[in-house]
Amino acid sequence: MENAWITARIARKAVEAEDIVTLDLVHAEGQALPRFEAGSHIDLELPGGRVRQYSLCNAPRETHRYQLGVLLDPASRGGSRSVHQDLAEGATVRISAPRNHFPLVPARHSILLAGGIGVTPLLSMAESLSQAGADFELHCCSRSVARTAFLPRLRGSAFADRVQLHFDDGDAVQKLDAPAVLDRPAPGTHLYVCGPKGFMDFVLGTARALGWAEANLHCEHFAGAAQDRQDDGSFEVRIASTGRVIRVAKDESVVAALAAQGVDIPISCEQGVCGTCITRVLEGEPEHRDLYFSDAEKAKNDQFTPCCSRARSAFLVLDL
Ligand code: FES
Repeated sequence: MENAWITARIARKAVEAEDIVTLDLVHAEGQALPRFEAGSHIDLELPGGRVRQYSLCNAPRETHRYQLGVLLDPASRGGSRSVHQDLAEGATVRISAPRNHFPLVPARHSILLAGGIGVTPLLSMAESLSQAGADFELHCCSRSVARTAFLPRLRGSAFADRVQLHFDDGDAVQKLDAPAVLDRPAPGTHLYVCGPKGFMDFVLGTARALGWAEANLHCEHFAGAAQDRQDDGSFEVRIASTGRVIRVAKDESVVAALAAQGVDIPISCEQGVCGTCITRVLEGEPEHRDLYFSDAEKAKNDQFTPCCSRARSAFLVLDL
């Protein structure tokens, strides 16, 4: 499905912390924006047509703006650099309606654990939980005060007493003690984690070792995991509707191989994060390389993300 783009205006662009800017986006024609739930993200089209996903960090009750927090990533493939350098206050950009792959679930207690700029969706969750009078705690880990986004907002919020800040360069006593924070897995307690991959692996690994149920663990990825492509081989895909067979070379994606033959699949992130390219698989076994599907969904092998995933079998039959 093609994106139904919304034209938005950058009403405000501000330096939030070292290497972090916030953008406030409003409808270009002054209309209300589509409602969103905590944990949602939008696609943002950058100059040159690249599309990147960013979490919304404002309160979900707001419809007059979407707020994004964007870290300048030194390993940027051009997305965060373009946000920082090319997007100016007052400019118009195209955005998608919000989508949510990281929703809050009803819980007796929610633990929100943020690593760096991963605080963005969790901030929106904290706003939502606070508004609902729900029980939660928010832990924000970052390298230093200077690199911590949203500090004044966190300190001045209605939920300031539920926020704990942890700085890498601070006293040992204030550092995140993950085993202590996670030491009581309970059916009614849910954990939400967002941040760099190493941070999320550490938090989720700690939770699993302490006996947390998978159903109570929720995480959000925004950068595709690095893949070792050395052993990639070629394979074939068959288009179910026409019987046409297309070879995917070892160094090209399924999406690229199909596009070269005039079969277009909509894409957005091109790294297995957004789910835009999901395609049903009728036969064969995909090699899932996305961060979108759960392990249970991957095990069914009935759909895959052709922007980055490949095949374990010699061919795949696609429902196209
Ligand atoms: Fe985003 Fe494939 S384009 S998952």
